[in-house]
Amino acid sequence: MSICAPLNRPDLLLAIESSCDETAAAVVDRNLQIRSNVVRSQDDLHRQFGGVVPEVASRAHVERIIPAIDEALCAAGVGFDDLSAIAVTSRPGLVGSLLVGLTAAKTLALALEIPFVDVNHVEAHLFACQMSTKRDVFPAVGLVVSGGHTLLFDCRSAVDFEMLGSTIDDAAGEAFDKGAKLLGLEYPGGPAIERAAASGNPQAVRFPRPLLDGPQLDFSFSGLKTSLLYEIQGTSEGRRELPALNPSRVADLAASYQEAIVDVLVAKCRKALDRTGRQTLLVGGGVAANRRLRERLGELARDQSVDVVVAPPQLCTDNAAMAAMAWELLERGDQASLDLDAMPGPIRKR
Ligand code: KG4
Ligand code: ZN
Repeated sequence: MSICAPLNRPDLLLAIESSCDETAAAVVDRNLQIRSNVVRSQDDLHRQFGGVVPEVASRAHVERIIPAIDEALCAAGVGFDDLSAIAVTSRPGLVGSLLVGLTAAKTLALALEIPFVDVNHVEAHLFACQMSTKRDVFPAVGLVVSGGHTLLFDCRSAVDFEMLGSTIDDAAGEAFDKGAKLLGLEYPGGPAIERAAASGNPQAVRFPRPLLDGPQLDFSFSGLKTSLLYEIQGTSEGRRELPALNPSRVADLAASYQEAIVDVLVAKCRKALDRTGRQTLLVGGGVAANRRLRERLGELARDQSVDVVVAPPQLCTDNAAMAAMAWELLERGDQASLDLDAMPGPIRKR
């Protein structure tokens, strides 16, 4: 069943995001002005486990989703009756987490008799680039670097993507998170490694740059994490306690590890630009908040004379505002049906 209500109210979209461990709600108008953007992080709940625990995440979403929506409406100074559509992330992600947002969105759409649109979270990470510039950034090559995904796309438009490459094992954010754990740093690992790396030497250890040779646009990060483990505890057989590292060694390892990840990401972007002939590169997802990556992407823009648009830091990590790509879908008449199910699991080329 779908709700085909006309868009005859003020042009305000309520967007809901709950695909992983952030409960988020935002109000965005048709000109992509963000009226409010509420993110209730669950980092404090997952930190003790060193990563996201799906069952803990979905229970926390249940507790936080209504307060997050209330806060988003209140901060925007609007009520339910001012809304013209509801957008929600339906894929990819953790099934229990997705279902919480999806149920809230369907319920509101049904009660308010307004259209309901479902959004692909990975594509929304790239739409965050469009939101920051307010000009048309498509067509472009798009790199999504998050906790669950490392994907390269040829983006023909905001809603027409062809996948060029994906990770064949760990995602870039996962490499940061797992690396941080080995270094005794807290979750989430990306910001922790970035902080530790600030006083380290990126040339201290030459970590491998996997799948860099040849034309392929796939990524592999799991070997990098193993190299870090060997660097910390040596290569002898058997599981051992990780030795305590002094802060300057942690800083050097963090800086060298971060440099290896950034090198690979930037090199693959360069290849994808060469292959497609696109003049614009879009970069989104949590890892895109990394300052060293942003610096190196700036260099790429200058060297290749291409336009590089990296999502602003507050729209890199998970948020609901980027689900405003729903406006593009609505324009094409893409309303979702109320029997839509969550589509969990990561997106991979194979
Ligand atoms: O996009 P995101 O918030 O959630 C997913 O869709 O997965 O990305 C989360 C990932 C985590 O792995 C986190 O460690 C990483 O983004 N991250 C960073 C930084 N901030 C977040 N990685 C490197 N540097 C950062 N500053
Ligand atoms: Zn994400």
